[in-house]
Amino acid sequence: MTRRGILMKLGILLNGVAGLALAIPIVKYLLSPVFREARPGYASWLSLGSAAQFPAGQTRLTAFQNPHSCATDGVTANIPCWVRNIDNVRFQVFAINCAHLGCPVRWFAQSGLFLCPCHGGAYYADGSRASGPPERGLFEYRYKLEWGVLWIEAGEMPTPGAPSASLTNISRAL
Ligand code: FES
Repeated sequence: MTRRGILMKLGILLNGVAGLALAIPIVKYLLSPVFREARPGYASWLSLGSAAQFPAGQTRLTAFQNPHSCATDGVTANIPCWVRNIDNVRFQVFAINCAHLGCPVRWFAQSGLFLCPCHGGAYYADGSRASGPPERGLFEYRYKLEWGVLWIEAGEMPTPGAPSASLTNISRAL
């Protein structure tokens, strides 16, 4: 074999290795939805406690433990969310993060608005956008009521691609 032939084969081999190294993360990314579903804790139903702690007609702040947390996460594993009890049967559970850039929004009962301290985003009581930079309303967790306990599906942040909260809520006997 000539020196040119050896260098040609070596070049092809190195190109193959480099191509494989680049392809692995791309393939992993493309297949991530398949493996993400199988991750423990993903799309977990978590209890927010008794629904009675959320009075009808009011919006209250609460928190749940991140199902993906580990011992070193400390208090950062506690994820706050806003719970709106509409009429003791219908609820809304909002992610605390603004739909613009994720700052935590606060509920102001006097004005009936969620307000974002970062860029002035505002949302109505039902989470829909009122004004400011956010292009959409607050993200909602899917919920269900079982025997008087409020549960949310909280394995990941609710996002625009997630199933609609209002279409899949399940209510059982209070
Ligand atoms: S992060 Fe809330 S308005 Fe920008």
